[in-house]
Amino acid sequence: MSHRIAVLRGDGIGPEVTDQSLKALVTVAEQFGHDLEFEEGLVGGAAIDAHGIPMTEETLAMCQSSDAILFGAVGGPKWDDAGVDLRPEQALFRLRKTLNLFANLRPVTSYQMLVDKSPLRPEVVRGADIMFVRELTGGLYFGQPKKRWETVEGRRAVDSEDYSENEIARVVRVACELARKRRGKVVSVDKFNALISSRLWRQVATEVGAEYSDIELSHMLADTFSMQLIAQPTQFDVVVTTNMFGDIFTDEAAVIAGSMGLLPSASLSGLPTGKTLGMYEPIHGSAPDIAGQGVANPIAAILSAAMLLRYSLGMETEALALESAVMSVLEEGYRTADIYSEGTKRTTTEEMGDLIVSKVQAKKG
Ligand code: IPM
Ligand code: MG
Repeated sequence: MSHRIAVLRGDGIGPEVTDQSLKALVTVAEQFGHDLEFEEGLVGGAAIDAHGIPMTEETLAMCQSSDAILFGAVGGPKWDDAGVDLRPEQALFRLRKTLNLFANLRPVTSYQMLVDKSPLRPEVVRGADIMFVRELTGGLYFGQPKKRWETVEGRRAVDSEDYSENEIARVVRVACELARKRRGKVVSVDKFNALISSRLWRQVATEVGAEYSDIELSHMLADTFSMQLIAQPTQFDVVVTTNMFGDIFTDEAAVIAGSMGLLPSASLSGLPTGKTLGMYEPIHGSAPDIAGQGVANPIAAILSAAMLLRYSLGMETEALALESAVMSVLEEGYRTADIYSEGTKRTTTEEMGDLIVSKVQAKKG
């Protein structure tokens, strides 16, 4: 059986890290005897330059008919004029909404060999292993009304935090399912004491939690959580939260791992069954300041490819093989610029990709 993967490299370091994750997928397919078909499309600034819009209908249709989407990053100063409504990120929002990618999985792990790369104390981050589940198609990003207008007193704008029972329930279910295969704990984060939408969130989360008698579900306020996350990250297993809070907390959580260049993500359109349509991208952005220099860390992109194998192609063994290849290379002391320290071996983006690929080849074949 052949699997179709749409590849959207995007802008900045997107193309160079996607080259590495693509290479990793091709190698896994060779080693394990799978047939993967790749189809490329333009997205973000690259699509604005070529077609005048952040993504064409053809590219969207190609993604819709794929089994999974491998995504790089979008955006850059060239398309950053605040007065212009056409933005590279619109491609991302359109993909998320149209493909119904409501559950954004962002695992954050502190690796033993990289504890010194975190600005937090080693004893604080050591052993931290959190799976964030960020709601991705609702809340402030998409709620209506969402508009800007002129009033007699001047300009005015509004965004709305809007959640339906169904939107909350389905993402909390994803979190509970993931927790079953982890340590069985889910913390739902909201702002219950100030927002009506958060009161519904907490109520629905509690109801869904009751369906999972094996899961320990608790609640935390967003402000408390933002402090607890860096004060004692090891207390968390799975964390489920809204679109806006999830965006903020996952960047904050990157300091636990030590570099944004390490963190992958999966955006799923259903429960994590292994056969769910999903989009896979590093959580870092397009980093235009370092684009084209060969210094970007491809590990976030490669670990995203491992998540693609796991959640969209049902290839758990293959996903584990790729993840353990990454671990072996880190254990041997190879480091890209963002995680380099004295006494370790400095690599370029491509060298890091090649090292990981060679571990996958050594593993089986
Ligand atoms: C993310 C990013 C995006 C978001 C931006 C690029 C619009 O920060 O995926 O976390 O806010 O969702
Ligand atoms: Mg973000």
